Amino acid sequence: MATVVGFISEKGGVGKTTACYHIAIALGRYEGKRVLVIDADYQRGGISGRFFPKLIEGFGSEAPTGTTLFNKFQQLYSASPQTTEIDVLPCNGQIDLIPADPRLSTVSVDKLPSTNNIRANNMSLLSHMKTISFVLSGLSKNYDYVLIDSHPEVSDVMRSIIYVADHCVSPVKLDRQSSIGVATVIGEISNVNNDISMIRRSLDVEDDYRNTQFSGSMGMMAREYGEGLKQSEQLEYNRLRRSGKIFTNYVTEGDGLRIAAANRQPVFDVQGANAVKQAAQFRALTKEFMQVCP
Ligand SMILES: Nc1ncnc2c1ncn2[C@@H]1O[C@H](COP(=O)(O)OP(=O)(O)OP(=O)(O)O)[C@@H](O)[C@H]1O
Ligand SMILES: [Mg+2]
Repeated sequence: MATVVGFISEKGGVGKTTACYHIAIALGRYEGKRVLVIDADYQRGGISGRFFPKLIEGFGSEAPTGTTLFNKFQQLYSASPQTTEIDVLPCNGQIDLIPADPRLSTVSVDKLPSTNNIRANNMSLLSHMKTISFVLSGLSKNYDYVLIDSHPEVSDVMRSIIYVADHCVSPVKLDRQSSIGVATVIGEISNVNNDISMIRRSLDVEDDYRNTQFSGSMGMMAREYGEGLKQSEQLEYNRLRRSGKIFTNYVTEGDGLRIAAANRQPVFDVQGANAVKQAAQFRALTKEFMQVCP
């Protein structure tokens, strides 16, 4: 069975998509792992665009064709039987993608048909949270890792990601805001874990849920002075380490990743000293990722 890892944060623009994309590529290309990437970012679909630029032309203005994650939530809203089939696009030999769907922004438990039966309502809330997990039930045996990129918002989609994930990691910029954002993420993981345990008791259902772990913040766009982090960033790094886990490896800010993003390539394929440095950082980060999220 695959290890499922959610890339989540409350803050936008902190490097979630960049981290998820490069770790996916490094796992496939350098570590020989089979990887499924799920793009649950309903605003940008950035990782879908990295793999298939055409896929996000007109993103948000037209609904994607085929069966997406959105359709799986919609089955619950229309009280149809939920099915696991979903479109999975092969990206290269090692990586497959479940692409983004902007309609995921409309996912909400408020749309579930409600009854005056508390047990039925709780069952339905549980099915909502289990949607991604249900979809993966037939798929995950084909992969070593499932990585999920997300939109920076505490939402019912995020709760479904936390439910299915064995681990969640949180990319951060090492600034004063990051410790606040990480605390929110840790709080939401514990909300989901507690909700599941409460629903499980109240429904008396056997459920194979295991508590999701917060497995660490990841320093992205870090700035160095000499060989180490700038003092203010080192202070923030230390603060994060005191309040939870943080990866030892980090990725520095620089042009290599900017060029990679503009060319829709991984930084591993970009020339130049800065790209070489960032590529090495991502390979080291990926090795640590495999230890932290085995
Ligand atoms: N280390 C880096 N150096 C330079 N640019 C970077 C670095 N990491 C990320 N970027 C750039 O910063 C921008 C934001 O990164 P990214 O899209 O990965 O963040 P995000 O958290 O996924 O954002 P959103 O919340 O909007 O989905 C992108 O343009 C990306 O190419
Ligand atoms: Mg993103």
